[in-house]
Amino acid sequence: MKIAIIGAGNVGGALGANWASKGHDIVFGVRDPKAEKTQALLKTIGGKAKAVTPADAAAAGDFVVLSTPWPATEAAIRAMGNLKGKIVLDATNPLTRGPDGIGLEIGHAISAGEKVHGWAAGASVFKTLNTTGFGNMANPVFKGVKSVMFVAGDDAVAKPKVMALVGDLGFEVIDAGPLRNARLLEAHAMLWIDLALARGQGRDFAFGILRR
Ligand SMILES: NC(=O)c1ccc[n+]([C@@H]2O[C@H](COP(=O)([O-])OP(=O)(O)OC[C@H]3O[C@@H](n4cnc5c(N)ncnc54)[C@H](OP(=O)(O)O)[C@@H]3O)[C@@H](O)[C@H]2O)c1
Repeated sequence: MKIAIIGAGNVGGALGANWASKGHDIVFGVRDPKAEKTQALLKTIGGKAKAVTPADAAAAGDFVVLSTPWPATEAAIRAMGNLKGKIVLDATNPLTRGPDGIGLEIGHAISAGEKVHGWAAGASVFKTLNTTGFGNMANPVFKGVKSVMFVAGDDAVAKPKVMALVGDLGFEVIDAGPLRNARLLEAHAMLWIDLALARGQGRDFAFGILRR
């Protein structure tokens, strides 16, 4: 598959490297494709990745993955132009920093995923790849056990394709229902962040599914 990844930072870089290692073609959409850090990332990934503008990346991708900081996300989507018919994977979390540390800027009544859906007119939007750290996106498997990644979205035809793509990274993939459940997934992400950064768990842990 050809995967456009908008933003080539911690998350975009980890996802791009992992997917490229599974044979997918990666097109990073970045503001400055020639930037040194982007060129260094391309070098580590090898021939399966290139960097262009967000608009060119989105036009080329079968899938468009959003891995931009939340405050930049609306502008990044607008810069991509027409996303009608595109399958968008939204990995953002609407984080803000307050007196008590990092928290969610919005939640309960609306989510970043639903806002992205409003900005990306005509696209099929899925909330996923937001509930664990970027290190776990590079390697989601813990001692042979897959950590979990949820996918929430409304397009029943596109959802199996999105779940397969997320599965290619090495996650156990769970259908988490409609896009409005992004409200739950963003709160779940906040739990991972709080445990990782404020409760001593560090970044090297992930959530999994246990079954009888
Ligand atoms: N870090 C994690 O472990 C983690 C886990 C799950 C979800 N998330 C979420 O994923 C998103 C990205 O996090 P991150 O840690 O990867 O952030 P990051 O390392 O700061 O990377 C953000 C990337 O977005 C780019 N960017 C900024 N504004 C842009 C714009 N207007 N158009 C296109 N690209 C733009 C930046 O490029 P420039 O060089 O041009 O600034 C940079 O490559 C956030 O919403 C975060 O909440 C993060």
